[in-house]
Amino acid sequence: MISKRIKNMTPSATLEQSAKIAELKKQGIQIIGFNVGEPDYNTPTNIIHKAEEAYKLGLTRYTPAAGMIELREEICRKFKKEYNLEYTSKDVIVSSGAKQSLTNAFMAIVDPGEEVIVPTPCWVSYVEMVKLAEGIPVLVRMEEKNGFRLDVEKIRKSITEKTKAIIINSPNNPTGAVYSEEDLRLLGQLAIEHDFYIISDEIYEKLIYDGEQNTCVAALSPEIKAKTITINGMSKAYAMTGWRIGYAVGPTQIINAMTDYQGNTTTSPNTPAQYASIEALANSEESVEIMRLEFDKRRQYIINRLNSMENIHCSTPKGAFYVMPNVSYYYGKKYQDFTVNNSLDMANYLLEEAKIAVVTGAAFEAPENIRISYSNSMENLIEGMNRLEESLSKLK
Ligand SMILES: Cc1ncc(COP(=O)(O)O)c(C=O)c1O
Repeated sequence: MISKRIKNMTPSATLEQSAKIAELKKQGIQIIGFNVGEPDYNTPTNIIHKAEEAYKLGLTRYTPAAGMIELREEICRKFKKEYNLEYTSKDVIVSSGAKQSLTNAFMAIVDPGEEVIVPTPCWVSYVEMVKLAEGIPVLVRMEEKNGFRLDVEKIRKSITEKTKAIIINSPNNPTGAVYSEEDLRLLGQLAIEHDFYIISDEIYEKLIYDGEQNTCVAALSPEIKAKTITINGMSKAYAMTGWRIGYAVGPTQIINAMTDYQGNTTTSPNTPAQYASIEALANSEESVEIMRLEFDKRRQYIINRLNSMENIHCSTPKGAFYVMPNVSYYYGKKYQDFTVNNSLDMANYLLEEAKIAVVTGAAFEAPENIRISYSNSMENLIEGMNRLEESLSKLK
């Protein structure tokens, strides 16, 4: 029999949908994938060469559970250089993706019955991770009319004596929102006053537009730093999703607890990928900038197209590579045998009628929206937006 823990888990909606798309593709149907959660770029060659070098030199054994000391030191240099933050390698853990660092963090700090505040719309996995740690996710809705900004007043109202942490994500998946320094400072104050942790997932930190800057929450004050676990990784900034390297930086005691958990569950992350990650952090800013500028062009195109469509509105995201148009106008509308009553119906309708794959907003606690990833070629964006517009116009 399967455990209650796993039975209570909602399978990842994005991965389920990928299976459906793979099935259609197998039938020879050309789908434009607006569902992808990864850069459509190859890993820069200087990074690949470092991994090749590691393989050839036989650097293929286990590393310490928290990751190679050289990589952890490089991560410390990054925080010093970019945010003037002092960490030592003892404050850093390298994991098999940011996803594992996040899981480690929840397992390390949450006791059964403790609450973790999750501002929504949110990335699919946070809620399941909190549940796996036997914590209680407390969902707090951020408003679309405010561009999904962090509503600190609403968060304040959801704090109880059981609140152990909040998980925030800026730039945000799925909304693309970038939280302001002012709001993050207010959140930091709340964390100090009410003694809870901030887990700050900054994995999209490099993909940010319109002159915005990422606010590293831990850099706001030494007191806030003491309450913050920063999560980051190689996947999005360096087009390294399949290499599976992420990391967490925070108070030594918590990093130690996370390392104990990781040591007993996966030992250590992939060794050649750790060598490659040192190169990524130290020498790849140019490649990141080329990718960022291209994403920005696509972002502007897609926002203009969506907002020029009747009955759709879409706030302008300042980060990541997603947009979240509100499609609720179409709920209750039909085309032939298909009635669209919610965001899942809409995603299914668009897959079947327009042959474009988007993700249902419901998966992110955003039932009025769909998520479109613009991590795709300009040619596909143009064709996909044409198909979207045409299919929506058929719904009456
Ligand atoms: C907000 C957010 N955090 C974490 C991750 C996981 O990243 P990784 O590939 O490093 O596990 C993702 C991936 O989609 C993400 O969107």
